[in-house]
This record gives sequence, C-alpha cells and structure tokens, in this order.
Amino acid sequence: MAEPSSTPACPSSVPAHIAIIMDGNGRWAKSRGLPRIEGHRRGVETVRTTTFAARDLGVKVLTLYAFSVENWKRPQDEVGGLMTLLEFYLKKELKTFVEDRVRFRTIGRTSELPASVQKLLRETVEATKHFTEYTLVLALNYGARTEVVDAARAYATAVAAGRENLNDDSWATFNRYLSTADLPDPDLVIRTSGETRISNFLLMQAAYAEFFFTPTLWPDFTKADLAAAIADYNRRERRFGPTSEQLKPATR
Ligand code: IPE
Ligand code: IPE
Ligand code: MG
Repeated sequence: MAEPSSTPACPSSVPAHIAIIMDGNGRWAKSRGLPRIEGHRRGVETVRTTTFAARDLGVKVLTLYAFSVENWKRPQDEVGGLMTLLEFYLKKELKTFVEDRVRFRTIGRTSELPASVQKLLRETVEATKHFTEYTLVLALNYGARTEVVDAARAYATAVAAGRENLNDDSWATFNRYLSTADLPDPDLVIRTSGETRISNFLLMQAAYAEFFFTPTLWPDFTKADLAAAIADYNRRERRFGPTSEQLKPATR
C-alpha cells in the first residue's frame, strides 16, 4: 500500500455549484458581420463543451442562464430563433445526458415557453431524474424577482392552508419555496462578455457567491477559461460574516 504523502493536501477546492450568465453571443456575431442568431448557435456549442468541462473539473451543479424574463423584449425573430435553437439542443442532448448520466432540470417560468419546448423539457427532465452525480440546470424564462413573487405566493398559500406558520421567520423555510429549493446555493457566479451586472439572476441564492467577470464572449469561452475562474475562486477567502482571524485555526 502506498505511504501517505507527507505533503499537505492541496487546499484548492472546486466550487460545488457554478452558475454562469452566458453573455456576448450578439457581439460575437456582430464582430464577424454575422446575424445575431449565428452567435447564439455558437453559444449552444459552448453550452455543450462547458457542461462536460465543468463535470470533468469536479463541479456538481452547473446552472446556465439561457433566457431571462426580460429577453422577450428582443426582436421577435431573435426570440423565435432562440426557441428553435433550444428545441434542436434538447432533441440532440437527451441521448447524451442519458449516456453520460447528467441530471437535467430547469428553473424559471417554463409554462410560458412554446408547447413544443415544454414537451421536450418534460421528457428530458423525466429521462434524467434518477442521476445524482452531476446536475445541469437551465434557467429559462427566469428572473429572480419573478421567482421571489412566485415563492411568496406559494408561501402565502401554504400559510393560509395551515401548512406553514407565520411565526417561523427562518430563511430555510422560505427557501423551500424558491425554484432552487433542492439545489445548493451557487459558490461561484461567472459572467462573460465584460458586463459586470447580475441582470436579475439568482439574487437570493447568490447572497454569498463569489463573482468572476471575464471579457471573453460566451462563444469563445473554453474549459481553460472555466479552470481560470475556478483558480481565481480558490484565491478568495469566503468569510460569511466572521473575521479572517476567526476563520484561521490558531497557530502556536
Ligand atoms: C447572451 O448573449 C444570450 C442571451 C441573452 C439569450 P446576448 O444575446 O445577450 O449577446 P450580447 O450581449 O448582445 O452581445
Ligand atoms: C442576461 O443577459 C440574460 C442571459 C444571459 C440569459 P442579457 O444580455 O439579457 O442582459 P442585459 O440586458 O445586458 O443586462
Ligand atoms: Mg447580452
């Protein structure tokens, strides 16, 4: 049997949950004189590579912001093109998810998406629901404020029905009404394309997330970029309130 190594274990840790605001598809296309939808098409390829890159790097949950509640305001042909791309993506990926044991799920008001997309989403979620090692979450028609409104409504209904007690003011209780109730909070939120805003993404869940902003446009984002984000995350000290000194074990 191998001797235990005398070198201390590497302190680096991989964030269990990474959430990505995939931004810059339009600018990627524009800079090449291509229609915006070409940028989205390339963006889908990056979704594929990143899904498996994250898993290879040891991530347990990957959440990708694919379509916000505000994105309906885009030109009709772009919205239609995005829905068509989503259909193609889901049709193609189902087999891969099953083969590679990826649990697929969504957050967001999916009931407002086209019926054909909803059907594919249901099928994909159903076919992969038993997998436990790795989860891919697509945020579709997602908005954090909408999510809070939905959660508050569900919570109020539960109080009215006597299933919840208004005296219980714990976050853990209210959290159960968010769409991410069964997921850990994101440890690391990445946004591509140089924008440094959150755009209505996981406002509650990212309360203590670390943020990483990169100028790389989403279609150009690679496994090396993801690894660089994780390396940067490992240089941070997550304190959650206490002082740095309190977190360090006393040295004598
Ligand atoms: C992100 O890329 C994809 C979606 C929001 C659907 P954008 O389409 O926002 O790209 P830019 O920001 O215009 O470059
Ligand atoms: C955020 O990107 C939404 C998604 C990545 C799906 P946007 O490109 O829509 O964000 P804003 O409008 O620039 O803030
Ligand atoms: Mg954008």
